[in-house]
Order: sequence, then C-alpha cells, then structure tokens
Amino acid sequence: MCGIVAYVGPKDAAPILLEGLQRLEYRGYDSAGVVVSNKGLKVRKVKGRVADLAKVVPVRFKGGLGIGHTRWATHGVPSDVNAHPHLSADERIAVVHNGIIENAGELRAKLEADGVVFASETDTEVLAHLIAAAVDENESLEEAVRKTLKSIVGTYGIAVIDAERPGEVVVARNGSPIVLGIGEKEMFAASDVAALVRYTRQVVHLEDGELAVLKADGFHTFASDARETAKEPLTVDWDAGHYDTGGYEHYLLKEISEQPETMTRTMSGRLDERFHVAHLGGLNMDARETRGFRRVKIIGCGSAYYSGQIGAQLIEELARIPSDAEPASEFRYRNPVVDPDTLYVAISQSGETYDTLAAVQELKRKGGRVIGIVNAVGSAIAREVDGGIYLHAGPEVSVASTKAFTSTSVAFALLALHLGRVRDLSPADGRRIVEGLRKLPGQIEQILGQGERIAELAKKYAPHPSMMFVGRVRGYPVAREGAQKLKEISYVHAEAYPASELKHGPLALIGPDMPTVAIVPDDELLDKNLTTLGEIRARGGQVLMVGHREPDAKLADDVIVIPKNEIELDPILLTIPLQLFAYHAAVALGRDVDKPRNLAKSVTVE
Ligand code: G6P
Repeated sequence: MCGIVAYVGPKDAAPILLEGLQRLEYRGYDSAGVVVSNKGLKVRKVKGRVADLAKVVPVRFKGGLGIGHTRWATHGVPSDVNAHPHLSADERIAVVHNGIIENAGELRAKLEADGVVFASETDTEVLAHLIAAAVDENESLEEAVRKTLKSIVGTYGIAVIDAERPGEVVVARNGSPIVLGIGEKEMFAASDVAALVRYTRQVVHLEDGELAVLKADGFHTFASDARETAKEPLTVDWDAGHYDTGGYEHYLLKEISEQPETMTRTMSGRLDERFHVAHLGGLNMDARETRGFRRVKIIGCGSAYYSGQIGAQLIEELARIPSDAEPASEFRYRNPVVDPDTLYVAISQSGETYDTLAAVQELKRKGGRVIGIVNAVGSAIAREVDGGIYLHAGPEVSVASTKAFTSTSVAFALLALHLGRVRDLSPADGRRIVEGLRKLPGQIEQILGQGERIAELAKKYAPHPSMMFVGRVRGYPVAREGAQKLKEISYVHAEAYPASELKHGPLALIGPDMPTVAIVPDDELLDKNLTTLGEIRARGGQVLMVGHREPDAKLADDVIVIPKNEIELDPILLTIPLQLFAYHAAVALGRDVDKPRNLAKSVTVE
C-alpha cells in the first residue's frame, strides 16, 4: 500500500526514483510524485500512474538527493494536490508517507490555529509543517523528525529531506515498512526491496520505532529515544529479473505459469521419503511440543485467509486436530481467547499486512504460540512470529495472489503431514501424501496446457453480470478463492457458497443470467455435488463444472477436467483453472489485470 523510494549519492536521483516507483506501483497507483534537492526543492506530482509522472519530470531535473512516492488514497481523494511529496510552507522540508496518522485532525487544527495554511487534505502534510517548525528551532533534521514523531499517533513509513541539508535523507518506520539499500558511495531506501534490487542486494530492515539517517557514504540507525541501534545487513536472494514480466503479457499470467516451479521450491528439501514426513526446521519446535497442541487457529486476510481454510481442512484430515481459519482483522477485534494449547498460524504473502501483523502482536502479548507462513523473507510478520515456513515462491507482483496462494496451500500440506506424523497418521498415509505432493508440479503443467480452452470459456461467461461459485467441504475454499479472483480482477460480481447451502437462499438468484462455477472433485461427496448441479440446471442456470471427469448425465454446460491427486491435495489443483478463468475473463473485459481498481497488493493500514 503506497510506495516510497529515496536516494542520496553522486547520480541524479530522479531516474532512480522513477524506476523504483515503477517497481512499487503494484502497491498503490492512484497518484505519484518526486522531489529532488538542488538549490531548493523541485517537485513534480500528478494524479495517475508513474508513467504519467515521468511525462512531467523534465530531462534537466538534476539533483543527487530525492524522495518519491506512489499513492493509494486514504485521507483525501486522489488528486495532484493530495499526491506526495508534501512540503512545508517555506518549501524547505519535503515528506513522503505510507500509513495513517490517526491524530492528524487534532494536529492540523492546532497548526491552523497558529496560522499554518494547508495545501492538501492529507494527513501527511502535518508532518511537513511540524518538522519544519522543529528545524526552525535549530534542531538537526534527524532530531526534528524524531521529536515530531513523538507527537504522532498512527502508522508510518516516512522519508524526509531538507533543502538546507542536501546530503541526507531521514527515514522512519512504525507499522509501515522501510528498507535501506546499501550501495557503493550511495544509499537508497524504499518501502519494499522490489525498488532496490536493481541497484543493490545489501539491505537493512528498520524495526518499528526505528529511524535512520542516510548519506552517500553510509547510514546510522537509532531508536525513538535517540539511542543508536546496531543493524546487520541482509543479502536479498531476488534480483531485478524476478520483477520483470519475463515476456508474458501480464505479471498475473507469469505468476500463474510459474506455479510448477514455485511449488517445487516450497517443497524443496522438506520432504522425507524414508519416514514419509516433512522437515520444517523453521518451526523451532521439538516433537514433544508439536504433539502437545490440541487446536490449530489460522489467521490471514483475503486470499491468505482462503488458503488458511484449505490449510485447516488439511490439518483436520491428516493430523486430526480441530482447526479453523478466520480473517485476521475479525480475530484481532473480538478480544480473542488465547489458549496455550492452540497453535496459531499467521499467513501472509507480503509479511506486512497490518491486520495480520496486529493480530500476531495481540497473540504474542497474550502468550500465544504463533508460527508464520510467509513469502517475503525478513518481513515484519516473519520477524514477529516464533517460527514458521517460508514459501520461497519469489516476488509476487500482480495484486491478485496466485502462486503465493498455492504455495501456502502446499506449506499447509507439509505442516499437516508434520503434525500428523508425530500423531496418528500412518506411514502408509504419509507416503501417499509425500507422493501426491511430488506429483503436483507436473499436474499443474497439464492444467496450464488447457489455457486456450479455459480462455474460450472465460470469454463465453465473462459478459454475465454475476456468477455463483459453489463447492462442498474441500471444494468450498476453492470456490471462495475462485470467486475472489474473478471479482478482484474482472469486476464481475461473484459469490461463493457451500454447495449444500444453495437451497437455503441463494438458489433464488439462479437463472439464465447467473451461471454457476461448480467445484466437483471425485471424492466421497461426488453424488451430492452432482445433485446440486441438477438443481441448478432445473432452474435454468448454466453450469461450468471443474472436476476430475465428465458427469454421466448432462449436468453441466461445460466441464474442465483436471488430473486427480490424493483427495486431500486436490483443492490445490482445482484452484489453477479458476485462476486462469479469472485472468482470461479480465482480459476479455479489457481490465487492468495487474492493477485492479481500488485495490493494493499489501494493505499496511487498518
Ligand atoms: C490484499 C491483496 C490480496 C491479499 C491480501 C493479503 O488485500 O489485495 O490479494 O490476499 O492483501 O495479503 P498478504 O500479503 O498478507 O498475503
């Protein structure tokens, strides 16, 4: 959500900032801006995309110090004026900010009473005025920022420059990520490593409450009480190539197509053919502890939550431990009972989603044992949890999650196998699951091979204003994720229901205008699912079935047949055709597939 880039060094900052913002655009994209320092601050900002900003940045926009921002509006509509950076009245201080300042109204009223005139409707602008007032009292920039932040309630990742100190940037973090990039006689900062990897792979993650001063020849970090902090740089595994579309028309199609490899990486080194177990060293838990849990509670947001539902199912089936998933935001706000015998699992691709992070912090505060299933190495949630499983799926750029979803589901299969095999899951069943997992990448290749046919079906169904998705038990989270993908990128209204619930209400919606995508795996519930298809067709509803074989009678208008795995693992494969269906529906409708309206890749505000 929103992107920040900062540069200080011998080169011109503007091209570096624009390139970095481009890489961060998936995090927020309603307006963008840059400021560079060169005998005063020079600003350009526009409503629109980074490409629109690039058009208004002149070639001679010189200066080796600058900060930039791509915005996802919270306070104030997307507009040129509300775009960041925000400047103090004397144009000495410039600030870019991610997050929300909760006491902005109060601070603004005080500043206005003192005669300050605000240029924008944003919460961020108060920072520019407050920092300017502090530097006017002869504070250094770092002191001015540090003292100002003491009066701030809310979340922030910020970068600040001062026209009178052309060699330094001050950055700070509280709830919204800031990563420093260490270059050769140059320094960078960004809200995401994606903006840095083209220039350096040596990075430092700031903790909440930490600040840093960057100069061309180095940096230092300190806490909110001004004490210096010691930081060890990390080397990022991903390089700039991981952030390219790699010849695909969209990141989304690239990420869908990568799933055989990403899934292989999630399993790599973790499957044991001798004892038919999973090795998950990152959990930091011995067998005795692992046996002790009596429940599993899974939390996450959006697609992460739906993959958690698949995970809960896998754990119940394979380990016979009662498990359930809940949206992280619901969980944190209902004052949850935190039980010492429950294993809590937080899921997040980005590792930065604020609601999930806040739920983890609430759990930790109450003494809960929390593990994470996270893609972004070193991210806030990964650092907060007691242990976990990294997905190793590589950067996911498209806003709609695909490869992280399936890799999370695979991570859950590994966790379920691990929990099961220290309990009552037999070696034979363990072997069955290990062999099933090994088969997944090849079977995904086969489904990807049906891309053209799925594109035809998507074209056929996309013009309908609404679609129903149904599934039973293992198929239900698949239906939910399928509906989620369709609505987020194609804007076609899609509802997911348990197939068994259809007759208790939503059947009233079924008719020629409302087709149904039915998830019908070849499992013990096949007959029940086929009965549901009959009920839909009897009401004039069209059916697109996704399953393992054509039904005997004509119960579906169209069928996508996919390879069969073990029944517990089938949901992972059933998801793939639905990703392709949503992708091709969005393309057919001319949508901005990778950057759907109103959404952002990682939501770092409440
Ligand atoms: C946003 C994205 C979703 C994503 C969710 C959770 O809402 O648009 O695609 O599933 O955040 O993200 P996380 O990074 O925590 O998995």
